[in-house]
Formats: sequence, structure tokens, C-alpha cells
Amino acid sequence: MSIVIKDALAILPQKGADVPGRHTIYIMDGKIAGIDEKPAAFPEDAHVIDGTNRLVIPGLINAHTHTYMSMMRNCADDLSFMDWLFNRVNPIEDNLTPEDAYWASLLGQIEMIRSGTTTFNDMQMHIHQTTRAVRESGMRAVICRGLVGSDYDRDDVRLQQALEEMEEGRECSRLTFRLGPHAPYTCSPDYLRMVADVAAEKGLGIHIHLAESVAECENLRRDQGCTPIEYALQAGVFNVPTIAAHCVQATESDIKIMAEHHVSVVTNPASNMKLGNGFAPVPEMMAAGINVCLGTDGAASNNAQNMFREMGFLAMIHKGTHATPQCVGAAEVFRAATINGANALGLNTGAIETGRLADLAILRLDVPSMMPANNPLSALCYSANGSEVDTVIIDGRIVMEGGELKTIDEERVYSEIRSMCGRLGL
Ligand code: NI
Repeated sequence: MSIVIKDALAILPQKGADVPGRHTIYIMDGKIAGIDEKPAAFPEDAHVIDGTNRLVIPGLINAHTHTYMSMMRNCADDLSFMDWLFNRVNPIEDNLTPEDAYWASLLGQIEMIRSGTTTFNDMQMHIHQTTRAVRESGMRAVICRGLVGSDYDRDDVRLQQALEEMEEGRECSRLTFRLGPHAPYTCSPDYLRMVADVAAEKGLGIHIHLAESVAECENLRRDQGCTPIEYALQAGVFNVPTIAAHCVQATESDIKIMAEHHVSVVTNPASNMKLGNGFAPVPEMMAAGINVCLGTDGAASNNAQNMFREMGFLAMIHKGTHATPQCVGAAEVFRAATINGANALGLNTGAIETGRLADLAILRLDVPSMMPANNPLSALCYSANGSEVDTVIIDGRIVMEGGELKTIDEERVYSEIRSMCGRLGL
């Protein structure tokens, strides 16, 4: 499919900054084939999108979530982190079928597409069902199986199953895979080292939760004499490209370690606040040169999969905690939600540039939240809520146009979710 977005306001990278301007964008063979200059072989019958009153941005990248948890929205609230995880979430997870994970992932993907997200980094229990959902939805995803264990055991059942299921998904170019050791408090030092060794051998990146809560850090300090980030370093996790979710309790020395080892950090402000875990030292991590990306975390702890809400939080909370209005500005938030995520995940997306994969979101400007959009970057971070997203293109294919989803039968998904919640007693 070839698409031309005619004369729209678009945010393009220029000399290290993200600059809004009027442009015509040509899309062909899944890529951005030209900006303002029609490519030689561009077909005459390309699909035309009128850019009047529209703002084009790179599709947002949700760098940490668990889409299978989408049916747990609003059923585990106002609980402490360990109570939330071990007494509420884990018992529900024990009763989930692979089919449940498929429908729940589709539910999460509907919410993400509708709010302009084109890629998500998913820690899963059911790789096979998620890859099936991604093939159908048209989204781009990086998927890992959450791994927990206590021994150096290369025959570990979950790991072997994950490696097999990853093979099945390899023929879809929108899918890539990582290994997902869950967290220091669910992976022994030996187990974590084993997973890191396998990741290094197979050339896979790692996706892990680190330093999410005070309790995690205190317990690890007591039992192992180190911080979660030191624990991961010692196990060899940082020998491969690592995306660390949360890092709320990262110390000054942890930040140095992560900067030196080029660890990308995903901050999840809504989840961290909702579980009472606090505020990640995002300004300090950014100042240390860490690639900071943005994620929603699962719907059980957020309770949304909407990156605009997350961008709003990221743009606001550090100004409050640091009593400094310059702290984490709109330009930094925009990068955290786009190009930083692409860089962390090794994807050629995250910016509107010729040659990059065509993952784009188009927002309406003729709605009250964007009127007037005097400064489009500010509008995205401080006034948009995601409902402005009108059209979404992923891999050069329109998955939503004029607010209508082209790839997912929404009513069917909602009906499956309702009956699933009845069965699970949610
Ligand atoms: Ni998480």
C-alpha cells in the first residue's frame, strides 16, 4: 500500500531538535519513502490522506507493558506493591488460559492504537497467543516471556518454551523477541546468570524489572548485600542490550552503572505512583546520559495503556518533586515516548525521516484540547489526552482511519473480555 499524507503539520527531527512544520509525507513499501519530494516510483493511485487540521507524529512506543493483564483493569487497586502482586495479581494469573491472554492482549492493543501507540514492549506469560494477536492487529511488538527461577538450569521449562515460541514468530517482520527475567526478587543469582548467558549466546536483549519498590531494595540489601541494579550487573545482565523497567529506587551509583553499561531505562510514572512506589530519578538519569524511555506498565497497575496520559505525568511530576518547572520538558518527554524507545528496542522507527519504517499517528487539531496548538510539542505533552488520534499507520499500513479500526473486531473482543471476567470472578 502506498500512502501520501498531504500538507499536514508534522514534527520532524532537524539538527538534533524536533521541529513542527508543514510537510507532505510519502509512504511506500512499509517505509517513509520521501518528505516533500515525491519518490520516482511513487504510484499515481496512492491512498491520499488530507493533512488539513492534522498533526503527524511518529507512532508512540510503549516501552514496558504486560498486555495479557488488560482484563485486570480496575480489579487490584489501592494495594501495596507486594500485596498487589502476590495476593491479587498472581492468583488471577494462575487461572488464565492462553486464550484469555490472546483476547486481553487484543484489548490492550485496541487501547494503544486508539491513543497513537504503534509499538509495545511486552513481558508476557503466553508468547504464542500474543504473537497471534500482533499478527492480526498489525501492531509492532517486542515480546518476552516473563521468567522466574532459582537454579542454573538451561533446560528450564519456561525458558525452553519461550525459545520455541520465539522461533514460531520469526517470520513476522513486526515481531522481535527478548528474554525477560522478571526481577531480582523472583530470579536467584544463578538463574539470572543462566538467562544472561543464554541471551548473550543467542544475541538477544533482556527486558527486566529493577528497583521498583522500597521493599524489593531492602530485602535484597538484607539477603544479598547489594542493590537490584548491582545484582543484575553481577549476574551479567548488562553484557547484553538491557531495558530496565522502573528503576524508581536507583541510587547515584546505580545510575552511574547503568550509564556506563548503556542500559535503557523505562519509566512508568502512573504505575509507580499508583502502587505507592514513588518517583524515579528521571532528571538525574537523563543528566547522566541514560536513554530514558516511557511505558505504561500493565493495566492492573496503571490502569490505562494510554501513552498520552503517561506523557502528561512524565512532563509534570518531576517539576513538582524537584520544585523546578524546567525539569523534564516537553521536548524530552516527546523523545522518551518516541525515538528513545526505538533506540532501546533496536527499531528503525520513532522519527519521521526518509528511510525509516512508516509507523505514524495522525491527530486532529480541530478539537478543543488542541485548539489552538500554538506549540505542538507542548500540546502533545500538556493538553492532549489521546482521543485526538484519528488515523494510525504501522509498517506502512493503515490500521485505523477516521477513528475506525481496520484490523480488530472491537465488539468481539469486548464480548470475550466480559465473559472472561465473569469466569475469573473479576
Ligand atoms: Ni511491569
